[in-house]
Amino acid sequence: MTEKSLAPHVIAKEIAPLGEGAMSLDDYKQLYAQSIADPSSFWSAEAQKRLDWFTPFQQGLAGDFHAGDVTWFAGGKLNVCYNAVDRHVLAGKGDHVAMVFEGDEPTDVRKITYLELQRKVSQIANALKMSGVRKGDVVTVYLPMIPELAMTMLACARIGALHSVVFAGFSAEALAQRISAAASKFLITADQGRRGGKSIPLKDIANAAREKLDCEELLEQVLVFERFYDPESELPYEQMPKDVRMDELVAEQRPYCPPEIMDSEDGLFLLYTSGSTGKPKGLMHTSGGYALYAAFTTQNTFDLRDGDLFACVADCGWITGHTYVVYGPLLNGSTTFLFESTPVYPDPGRYWDMVQRHKITQFYTAPTAIRLLMRYGDEYPTKYDTSTVRVLGSVGEPINPEAFRWYFEVVGKNKCTVVDTYWQTETGGHVVTNFPGITPMKPGSCTLPSYGIATAVLDPLAGTPVTEPDEKGHYEGVLAISKPWPGMARTCINAHQRYLKTYLHVYKGYYFTGDSVILDQDGYHWIIGRVDDVLNVSGHRIGTAEVESALVAHGAVAQAAVVGQPHEIKGQSIAAFVMLVEGQSESEALVNELKNLVRKDIGGFASPDMILVTPSLPMTRSGKIMRRILRKIVCHEVDSLGDTSTLADPSIVDVLIEKVASFN
Ligand code: PRX
Repeated sequence: MTEKSLAPHVIAKEIAPLGEGAMSLDDYKQLYAQSIADPSSFWSAEAQKRLDWFTPFQQGLAGDFHAGDVTWFAGGKLNVCYNAVDRHVLAGKGDHVAMVFEGDEPTDVRKITYLELQRKVSQIANALKMSGVRKGDVVTVYLPMIPELAMTMLACARIGALHSVVFAGFSAEALAQRISAAASKFLITADQGRRGGKSIPLKDIANAAREKLDCEELLEQVLVFERFYDPESELPYEQMPKDVRMDELVAEQRPYCPPEIMDSEDGLFLLYTSGSTGKPKGLMHTSGGYALYAAFTTQNTFDLRDGDLFACVADCGWITGHTYVVYGPLLNGSTTFLFESTPVYPDPGRYWDMVQRHKITQFYTAPTAIRLLMRYGDEYPTKYDTSTVRVLGSVGEPINPEAFRWYFEVVGKNKCTVVDTYWQTETGGHVVTNFPGITPMKPGSCTLPSYGIATAVLDPLAGTPVTEPDEKGHYEGVLAISKPWPGMARTCINAHQRYLKTYLHVYKGYYFTGDSVILDQDGYHWIIGRVDDVLNVSGHRIGTAEVESALVAHGAVAQAAVVGQPHEIKGQSIAAFVMLVEGQSESEALVNELKNLVRKDIGGFASPDMILVTPSLPMTRSGKIMRRILRKIVCHEVDSLGDTSTLADPSIVDVLIEKVASFN
C-alpha cells in the first residue's frame, strides 16, 4: 500500500493507448464535446440505434437536477428483457451462446444459447405470474451466482416487476430489512450457494429473515430454486408455509411469455446501497435510460466486438453484476460469463485458467482481487495462455499503481488495455473511464469522462467549480456531474426527499458523487476517496452508521465509532472504537461477540478487523464524535491530527494512539 499512500499522480507514467482504436483521442474529444453540448440529441440518437422500441419516444431528456424530475425518453415503450434476449433470437442468433456459467467447481460448466435463454426466462416469468407477481411489484431475489439469478432478473423485467437483488453474503437481518423497506411480497431464494467448496445455507438464512420485522406478513410466496435440482430427491431444505419448489413450477410452464409493454421511465429494478446515514437506500433504475446506458458503456469501454466472450466476475448482488454481467453484454447480443466461485479456488490460478479454457476476451474484476492474486506471484498468470484477452477492467475503488502495473504487465503481458472504470450504484454505468485504443493510460487514474458525462470539480464549501489550479496545475475538490445522463438512478424508493438531499441538493445544479478528486494538468481524474462516512471494503460499500448501530445493539456497548483503515488487500478495513456501559469490562469474548453481531446484522464482509474498547471517544463538548481524529489515528497520521482543542477531553487522544499502536 505504500504507493497508494503517495499522491498517485506523482508516480504514474503515462502508457500510450494499445491496439487499433476505432477512434483517436482527438475524435473522442470531439464526440465528447458534442455529447455534452446537447445530451438530449446525443442520447436520443443512441437510444434509437441501440434499443428496439414498441412505441417511439418523442423527447429525449426532460426535467433537471434542480427539480429532481429527470426523465429520459418518457412516453417511449419498450421491454428490456425483449431487448436483451428476444430481438437477438429474432435476428437469427438463437443458437449463439448468451451465457457461459462456471460454477464453484471448474468442471461445472453450462452454456446457454439465446433461444434457450428466451425459453427459460419465459418459463420463470410465467411461474412468477402464476405465483401472483404483477407489473410494478417488487421481487426480492436472494440467490447464489447461478444462471437462475440472471434469468430471474430478466424474467422480472419481462413481466414488468422490479427485481431487488440482495447479495447472498448479506445476513438474515439485512435481507429482512430490504424485504420490509420495499414492502416486497415475493422472495426468490435457493436451498444453498457454493463458494470455495463450501455450502452457504441460503434457505436457512431466508427462513430466519422471514421471522424478522413484518416479512412474514408481507410475503405471499417464497420461491425456492435448488442448486442441484433432482426431481426424484427429497426436499433439500427445511420447508415453511408459502414455500414453492421453483424448479418444479418452472418446468410446468409454457416456454413463451409475452413481454410486458413498459414505459421508458417505468422502474426496472431496485438496488439497496449504503449511505453515510441511516438505513440502506433503495435506488431505482428505470427501463429505457438504464438499458441504453448499460448497452452503450459495455460496448464503448470494453471495445466489445462480435464473437467476444465478456467476463465480469462480479456477483449480481452488486450493481457491477447488474450492468456488466447481465444487462450490458446481453443487450449487445454478446456472450456473458457468470462465475460462482472465488479467485483462489481451487487455487490462485482460477481466473487465468478460465481465461484460457473459455478464450475470454474481456476480463473485469476489482483491485482487491488483483492485490490478493499478486501475493501469489507471477507464476499463476504466466502458466496460462491469456492471449485472447484484449481488455482488462478494474472497478470498485482506486487501483493503486503497483496493482495496475501487475495487471497490465503480468496478466496482460503489456498487450491489453487496462480500463479503470469509475462509477457507482447510482450512476448505473461507467462515468469516468479510459477507452481501449483511444485514451492513454495513467496507472491509478480513471482518466477522462465518458460520453455525455459533464464532470465538475467543486469547492466543497462554496459548491462552485474550482477555477484556480494549485502550483502543479491541478484542481482538487469534490466530484460532481452537471448534466443528467440516461443511466442515473431516478429516486430512492418511497424516499424521494432523501434522494434529493443526498445527491441533488448538496450542491445546487449538480449530481454529487460523494467522492473527492484531483484533476491533473491533462484533465485526468484521480479519485481520492469518499468524503462521507461510507467505507469501501474489498470493493463493498458499507456505511459506518450501519456498523455502529450493529455494535451499539449489544447491551454492553454505550457508544461506538467506526472508521476505515488502509488495508493491503481489502483497500480499507473496518476499525471500531467502543465505549462500554458502566460496570462492563473488556474481554476477548466480548470482542468476538461484537464481531458476530456485525456478521449477523449485515454480513461477514462488514466484520471489523479491529475492535478497541476505549474509556471514552474523542467528542466535542456538544457530544459529536470527531471521526476525523480517529481516522488519523488508525492511519498513523498522528502528526497531522489538526485542532484537538475543541474536544471535551483532549487527553483521550494519547490513550487512543497507544491502544492502536499496541493492537498493531
Ligand atoms: O468511491 C467510489 C468507488 O466506489 C464507490 C461506489 O461504490 P458502489 O456504488 O458500491 O459501486 C461500486 C461499483 C461501481 C464510488 O463512489 N469507486 C468505484 N469505482 C472506482 C471507485 N473509486 C476509484 N476508482 C474507481 N474506478
